[in-house]
Amino acid sequence: MTSEAVLSVRDLHVAFRTRRGLARVVNGVTYDVEAGRTLAIVGESGSGKSVSTLALLGLLPTGVARVQGSAIFGGEELIGRPEEYLRAIRGAGIGMVFQDPMTSLNPVLTVGRQIVEAIRAHRSTAKDVARKRAEELLAEVGIPDPRSRLDAYPHQLSGGMRQRVMIAIALAGEPRVLIADEATTALDVTVQAQILELIQRLQAEHRTGVVWITHDLGVVAGIAHHVLVMYAGRTVEEGSADELFDRPVHPYTRGLLGSMPVVDDPRAARDRDPLLTMPGLPPDPVALPPGCAFFPRCPIRADDRCSHEVPPLTQVAGGRRHRAATFYSPEGP
Ligand SMILES: Nc1ncnc2c1ncn2[C@@H]1O[C@H](COP(=O)(O)OP(=O)(O)OP(=O)(O)O)[C@@H](O)[C@H]1O
Ligand SMILES: [Mg+2]
Repeated sequence: MTSEAVLSVRDLHVAFRTRRGLARVVNGVTYDVEAGRTLAIVGESGSGKSVSTLALLGLLPTGVARVQGSAIFGGEELIGRPEEYLRAIRGAGIGMVFQDPMTSLNPVLTVGRQIVEAIRAHRSTAKDVARKRAEELLAEVGIPDPRSRLDAYPHQLSGGMRQRVMIAIALAGEPRVLIADEATTALDVTVQAQILELIQRLQAEHRTGVVWITHDLGVVAGIAHHVLVMYAGRTVEEGSADELFDRPVHPYTRGLLGSMPVVDDPRAARDRDPLLTMPGLPPDPVALPPGCAFFPRCPIRADDRCSHEVPPLTQVAGGRRHRAATFYSPEGP
């Protein structure tokens, strides 16, 4: 663990009991979130990005989900802790912007009330002071006419507005860690840029550790310090953003980056899901292949072991914090 880690996840596993058998969707994920830094988690749909963070906060259906491993926040273990403990962490320690804002906002409470409650859950604050702060937060996330918006109900706002309200609620508790799950994916490019700027500014002011989950590699290149690439519930490659973008090693990462749209053409970037351009589908989590999970789709198949041995995550030669789980080693830069 580095001295600056505010959240340390170690060997996290999540499996769901399903009618078809045990679905192993997160299979040993390890990372640190550092104060004032952004960790991006990327990978295509179903790779376990959302589940791996929901598991930390006790937000998976109990009885169905089996969570193993460790997650240390503020010197304390989160995995296996009772709901009251985790609820307090969600209110103040770790803020989360969920992928689907409509299911996480309360439809029968005004947005002002929801932000005020988030502020007051974090620290005792007089109602009028909290309301003033709620108005400021709405202004900070770029909502016009914030005072009158306080009295709006979620259904009266557009999708983009609701997403910004979610971000305001997550920030209301002044969290030490902010987990943003596809937080700007539904927003138009201009608003997306505003939100990214806002989060970077708040991060610098409060030294917030940010986990940024996304499909959008263009956004990752702009904001991430460290990048973790997930495939079938495992980390297939990780490194500083520079290392990963300059010298990707894993065939999966190379595929993702090879199909990355031109960054200076945001419209092209939005019209195309770069991760869908790779042929084939990820494996069924109920029947993971015995070797590398990417083997069935891998254009390289570098080694005899690929089909029956899971490649361990190992240091990339010449890299600083660059690790990859592949038997393949590309030549040259
Ligand atoms: N309650 C559940 N019961 C069974 N399987 C589940 C449950 N919730 C999620 N899963 C499965 O877990 C896997 C990982 O899902 P997850 O939502 O983490 O993917 P993701 O990487 O966030 O994808 P996306 O980019 O589409 O958001 C998927 O195969 C999903 O179907
Ligand atoms: Mg998700």
